[in-house]
Amino acid sequence: MGVERVRRLFGAQLSRRFGLLPPEPRGTVVPRPPATAGPADFTGPKRYVPAADQDFAALRSAAERYPQALADREGFGWMRRKPFDPTERHPHFFQGMYAILNAVQAMRLPPGALVMDVGSGPGWVTQILVGLGYRVVALDPSEVMNDLARRRLRGFEAMSGVATDAATFITSTLEEADLAEYLAQVDAVMFHEALHHVIDERAALGKVFALLRPGGCLSVSGEGSWTPGDGQLERGLDAEMARYGTLESPFTRPYLRYVLEAAGFEDIQFHLGVNGMFAEAQAHMELHQVAGTPAGAAHVLLARRPMNGDPRPAAADPGLTEAEIAVVTAAWDRGGLVVRVRLRNSGRTLWPSHVPPLRQGVTLALTRHATATDQPEAANRCPLPHPVPPGGETVLDWRFEAQTLEGGPCYLRLVAEQAFWFQGAMRVNV
Ligand SMILES: C[S@@+](CC[C@H](N)C(=O)[O-])C[C@H]1O[C@@H](n2cnc3c(N)ncnc32)[C@H](O)[C@@H]1O
Repeated sequence: MGVERVRRLFGAQLSRRFGLLPPEPRGTVVPRPPATAGPADFTGPKRYVPAADQDFAALRSAAERYPQALADREGFGWMRRKPFDPTERHPHFFQGMYAILNAVQAMRLPPGALVMDVGSGPGWVTQILVGLGYRVVALDPSEVMNDLARRRLRGFEAMSGVATDAATFITSTLEEADLAEYLAQVDAVMFHEALHHVIDERAALGKVFALLRPGGCLSVSGEGSWTPGDGQLERGLDAEMARYGTLESPFTRPYLRYVLEAAGFEDIQFHLGVNGMFAEAQAHMELHQVAGTPAGAAHVLLARRPMNGDPRPAAADPGLTEAEIAVVTAAWDRGGLVVRVRLRNSGRTLWPSHVPPLRQGVTLALTRHATATDQPEAANRCPLPHPVPPGGETVLDWRFEAQTLEGGPCYLRLVAEQAFWFQGAMRVNV
């Protein structure tokens, strides 16, 4: 029952606790988010495996290897067949399908919406989304999973005639993915049986927030919750983690809510999924009596990026997007401020660079005031010449066209374009 319950609540990917794999050399190509234990101001239990980000590289590589490891034990059958569970009463089929259908229906997406399927695995959710006419970005750290998903979509196209080039596949963890082109563009981000695998939840959910357009929706389903001391659940998690090396770390409800609020989400609602046929004689029953998962036992969740107030002040989560700005030289020249500035990414997110002609990525702005959205501002913002990972530095040479600012105080401030202003500003003393 233990392992079965774990599989029911968390899906098939379960793995051993972190720390048992040999450490990998830190990659230089894909920067690893720095190790931090999470928000200092949250007290109480957070996740079953806290601070897993300290073992990021090993956990990522276990996620990459997982499908093959699973296939070595039981073949690719379930991954290819998912969600069609032929066992008695088809529990995985109904749980999975109801969860996705409920989420898609509840989000009320516009036709052709852009949806990100995070931890897309073998692609059955992606297939449904494409079939419903959405554009989909399917993201998974495992190339083997993405291959399975591509094959699934090719088969679907051959059978249905639905063009599947509306799906784009990205092979990466969410935390490390370069998603600059999607900033503030995405209508919905869905995690099905995936959130508890995310290694750095603050970086991941902060990124989801920045990817969503104002009013865009986050959906979490197939996600069990963790209540400390639930020995049966914990033994099941440990057993599965011991088998595959990947992270199996569900959240407590208060901590998940906390991380979402810190990222800036609003309208955070936990739901009950109610499905099936009921006799008319049962019409008096209450929702909790007929819900598929008992309230509190799972996180069935919708949350939104606020509609208003953009660009959003970054005050909600200073630890995530932090910068050190040093003015090396600055001089006024005929209505322009010519500067050399050194920037250091002291936060925990990758700063994407600007992608012309779109106004995207992180840029440097020159403003009159030090606070969030005050005007006036110089006419042109300075783009980053290249993405800057956490811990990375870059030096910018730029001329701000700033006639209206000459003679008064000026501040340098960073902007995540179409998303928010960074907290903090550097006064320019000329
Ligand atoms: C249990 S599977 C669920 C797959 C799919 N959503 C489904 O319902 O079939 C979890 C998936 O999350 C992926 N994953 C693990 N860590 C991740 C991370 N940090 N970022 C994004 N995806 C991750 C795994 O590779 C795996 O394919």
